[in-house]
Amino acid sequence: MKILILGGGGREHALAWKLAQSPGAAVFGAPGNPGIARVGACVPVPDASPEGFLAIAEKLDADLTVVGPEAPLVAGVVDAFRAAGRAVVGPDRTAARLEGSKVFAKNFLAQMAIPTAQYVIAENDLDARRALDRFGFPVVLKADGLAAGKGVVVARDRSEAEAALANLKGRLVVEEFLRGEEVSFIALCDGRDVLPLAPTQDHKAVFDGDAGPNTGGMGAYCDAAILSEPQTKEILNRVIYPTVEATRFTGFLYAGLMMTDAGPKVLEFNVRMGDPETQPLMHRMASDFAPALLAAAEGRLGSARLEWRPGPSVCVVLASEGYPGAYPTGRPIHGIECAEALGATVFHAGTRLGSNGLETAGGRVLGVTADGADLTTAIDRAYAAVREIRFEGMHYRADIGRKGLQRYNGKTQRGRSSDG
Ligand code: AMP
Ligand code: GLY
Repeated sequence: MKILILGGGGREHALAWKLAQSPGAAVFGAPGNPGIARVGACVPVPDASPEGFLAIAEKLDADLTVVGPEAPLVAGVVDAFRAAGRAVVGPDRTAARLEGSKVFAKNFLAQMAIPTAQYVIAENDLDARRALDRFGFPVVLKADGLAAGKGVVVARDRSEAEAALANLKGRLVVEEFLRGEEVSFIALCDGRDVLPLAPTQDHKAVFDGDAGPNTGGMGAYCDAAILSEPQTKEILNRVIYPTVEATRFTGFLYAGLMMTDAGPKVLEFNVRMGDPETQPLMHRMASDFAPALLAAAEGRLGSARLEWRPGPSVCVVLASEGYPGAYPTGRPIHGIECAEALGATVFHAGTRLGSNGLETAGGRVLGVTADGADLTTAIDRAYAAVREIRFEGMHYRADIGRKGLQRYNGKTQRGRSSDG
């Protein structure tokens, strides 16, 4: 089976790494990256439009295409593939608005009575300032359109909010600040049936202790203990099932949730797998993923099942100097082999081959992923591997997965844990 993966980041390398282990699979990345080139073939993308991607799939005669990032989904790549009768995993353009517009998503949530933060849509600066008075501080400001995880500002006081307003352009969602633990809940859907993946937790802020500006995600871990069985049921019943039913959602529905004292509330929808979440997810998945993906693309997900290894997995993102702000590229990367010799898997997020070998090419450069019998072991193994890798200006969070440890250290768990 020829499997084409659209995209070239850490999520796509993790998918390619996992799918390349599927018996009889040949994996292609468009455009891919040097990590994907180790498990499959990379194909250039001269035209990143829906028709351009379709042309690549036709030329390869791909049996299945998995769309990694949101931009092609929002542009309608799935509509183009379906019209041509090609199997594809992803939502159509209409359903992709759940991620493509925060205003659309909030209005959808409100209309469906799905729990989410109280909000106001601000068409202009004046509306936004009025909304600040309504919610007090901290307050959350979100740009309407796609922003690679960087269009959201949590402002602690008025001066931070004013500074954010000067930077965020166009229509905004201004919303109530929610407290609790964040969970990434991702489900594979076929328009009717839903196959939940194991729960993960991302680390959005750039610095330890959740300080500093938001990024695309500085690390994530996957652990059944993140959600209890009743919590998983509540998320499915209150968030995922109603959304899939109303939108006939196909592909990956990702609910970014705050687990508040009043239950789960939706922070955002994404219409694709999370990055870095996909890295610990693929690492921990025991089943062959290809049959489930094909079943989702063909609308017969009903009987599909996924098994997970019992121990948690942890992914630490190594970022470029200055990220999430402007960053240099072209810095030589060393030590990946040594890191992998310790048992970790190093996923490539923003790398390229230069004349002197592998070098940095993005804000998030690598995702160092390891597992273990328990969370402490998985964390220790991931960081032992991280310490083998060097590039100038490299920075990373030192506390990925630490919050998860509190679940085991004295905090009682509500009910049995669950992999969904
Ligand atoms: P979003 O892209 O909407 O998920 O926002 C990015 C990040 O900002 C989230 O992962 C949260 O860490 C934070 N965030 C967003 N909305 C809220 C909220 N209403 N309350 C607290 N934190 C939020
Ligand atoms: N890690 C968050 C995201 O993929 O949007």
